[in-house]
Amino acid sequence: MYLPIPYKIQYDTERFPFKKVIKEILQVADLEKLHELENYDVLDREKDQSTKWHRSYYENFEEKFKPLYLEFVNHLKERFNYEEIIYQKIPTFRAQLVENLGVGEWHKDRAYQHGITEVNFWLPFTDTYDTNTIWSESKEDECDYRPYNVKYGEVLVFDGANLTHGNKINKTKDTRVSVDFRLVDPSKFVNNKGLSVNGITSFTLGGYFEKM
Ligand SMILES: [Fe+2]
Repeated sequence: MYLPIPYKIQYDTERFPFKKVIKEILQVADLEKLHELENYDVLDREKDQSTKWHRSYYENFEEKFKPLYLEFVNHLKERFNYEEIIYQKIPTFRAQLVENLGVGEWHKDRAYQHGITEVNFWLPFTDTYDTNTIWSESKEDECDYRPYNVKYGEVLVFDGANLTHGNKINKTKDTRVSVDFRLVDPSKFVNNKGLSVNGITSFTLGGYFEKM
């Protein structure tokens, strides 16, 4: 599952119709044009989970997104040949509107208490490119930042705990909508009582993580 350099994998969007599900949850016809429906000042770290789109996603997660997500985690578990896998219970939602940010600051996830054996999966529901996608270095402290252009039907797998990553103001004509989540090899998992950015959930099994 783990490689130090970010890479992409493909999945079948007919079997995992994430885009359709997200459009139903947000009740919009066109994810790429969310910025035409609602305007926000450039989001900082405190506000980057606070738009109406985030609210819709988190309110509907259990009923409308979780079943498909669990199927997808199970698919990844089989694909990477794990008997059991530890996964992030609720994937983090991102909407990067035109002229805005999806994540408020550049960082390594471990700066926010994340465990260093977590592997990040970055799953967009729009085709991403240039400034509407994630930028990352390829090796720790290499500082060779570049955009990872990931299409719908692809997942970027990367070492977010240890690589500095972030995003730039979206100067494209399209909003990016994505979720990201972490998988951990159970043999490498360390129960971590540190709290995630919401200040409530600890990075423990039964807290931020679950096992399947
Ligand atoms: Fe991150």
